[in-house]
Amino acid sequence: MRITVIGTGYVGLVSGVCFSNLGNEVTCVDKDKSKIDMLLRGEVPIFEPGLKDLIEHNVSENRLSFTSDLSKSVKSAEIIIIAVGTPSLPNGEANLQYIEQAVREVAVALNGYKIIMTKSTVPVGTNEHIASIMSELTAHNFDVVSVPEFLREGSAVKDTFHPDRIVIGVNNKRAEQQICDLHKPLTENIIVTDVRSAEMIKYASNAFLATKISFINEVANICEKVGADVTMVAKGMGQDRRIGPSFLSAGIGYGGSCFPKDTDALIQIAGNVEYNFKLLRAVVEVNKDQRFNVTNKLMDVYRDLKDKTITIWGLAFKPNTDDVREAPSIEIVETLVKLGAKLKVYDPIAMEKFRVFSGIVGLEYCNNAMEAAAGSDAICLLTEWDEFSNIDLQELGKVVRTPVLIDGRNVFDENKLVNSKFQYYSIGRPH
Ligand code: UGA
Repeated sequence: MRITVIGTGYVGLVSGVCFSNLGNEVTCVDKDKSKIDMLLRGEVPIFEPGLKDLIEHNVSENRLSFTSDLSKSVKSAEIIIIAVGTPSLPNGEANLQYIEQAVREVAVALNGYKIIMTKSTVPVGTNEHIASIMSELTAHNFDVVSVPEFLREGSAVKDTFHPDRIVIGVNNKRAEQQICDLHKPLTENIIVTDVRSAEMIKYASNAFLATKISFINEVANICEKVGADVTMVAKGMGQDRRIGPSFLSAGIGYGGSCFPKDTDALIQIAGNVEYNFKLLRAVVEVNKDQRFNVTNKLMDVYRDLKDKTITIWGLAFKPNTDDVREAPSIEIVETLVKLGAKLKVYDPIAMEKFRVFSGIVGLEYCNNAMEAAAGSDAICLLTEWDEFSNIDLQELGKVVRTPVLIDGRNVFDENKLVNSKFQYYSIGRPH
């Protein structure tokens, strides 16, 4: 099939590249010419394992191309995928400005029947809104289909090729067949629903996963007070098939460009129909507090952080990505700077993005985990990169000034720490 993907962010670029790898002819379009120029030079604007090789392969097979000419690429396509961003407005609602703009340009360029497939996460009713914008601007036939995306950053390629399910929200048979055919090589598990339900499935899924995380984080906070071990608790709970083992890792809370934005948006969606989503509000509140678990522990060790050197290990919101959007590290670092600590920070790949995005000044950026720990009064681990859990604790003990380790992601085996000289604190585990 001939496909045009509008938006070369995580969702658009990964989906476009993976569809081309399945043999489709794909053009990825972006308004941002600098991104397109990068892609044309063979560079990838995001860090995503496996993506660069796939791009090279499919470009060389002439199935994948990049352009900023939306109109031309729309004219030659059968399916147009909308994958532009839906960032939060100040009130938490999704900002649909980029979607509306893209849809208007698509409508004006239309030259015959096409399917508009929305992959961006959009509030319930948006795809109907898209259809009405299209109808005002074009006399050609089209169908609008909602196919929400469930890929995770850091394993986006794998998730796209091996999805748990594909959800297709569609209101007519003509488009249903074609979109099912497009996804069949990926999985047999295709769920066809009405458009509104598909839009809701995406928000409800992210909200439920966020709920699991905040739930286990609160259990962890109680475990700390009653002397239980949250890792064992999660293991015991997770063996119940109705609960499942994933998303029960306690830590400093969720971040990233999806959970915080989508939970806020669902609270707003509910509010717009006068429903108070109390549970989800609590999930968000718990998450906002959880990051301070690390700073509170540090304050328990040192009443005053002035003149203390604190090491931050990990800035990205999770490992295998350089994304720092809504990362708990930002607020933790800000707080420690305000408290007068001298900060040495290190992340294997997210330092440049952190520097630009956070705008926090006066930090010492280091070249590796050991260098960041040298002369430190406490190490705070905020992202569970392997480099940190694999570190030689003996060596580490020699370079720090005071052996204090606060593990915000529970990556260290407490038994190993018992034999080291480190004062070790983690989340929801006895120490
Ligand atoms: C999330 C969803 O997992 C995807 O299914 C969805 O497609 C995506 O949002 C989206 O809406 O686009 P992502 O934000 O890439 O994907 O990251 P996750 O791997 O889900 O992790 C989110 C956050 O939760 C991270 O900060 C992670 O550290 C945290 N987390 C995750 C925990 O604190 N504990 C856990 O047990 C699991």
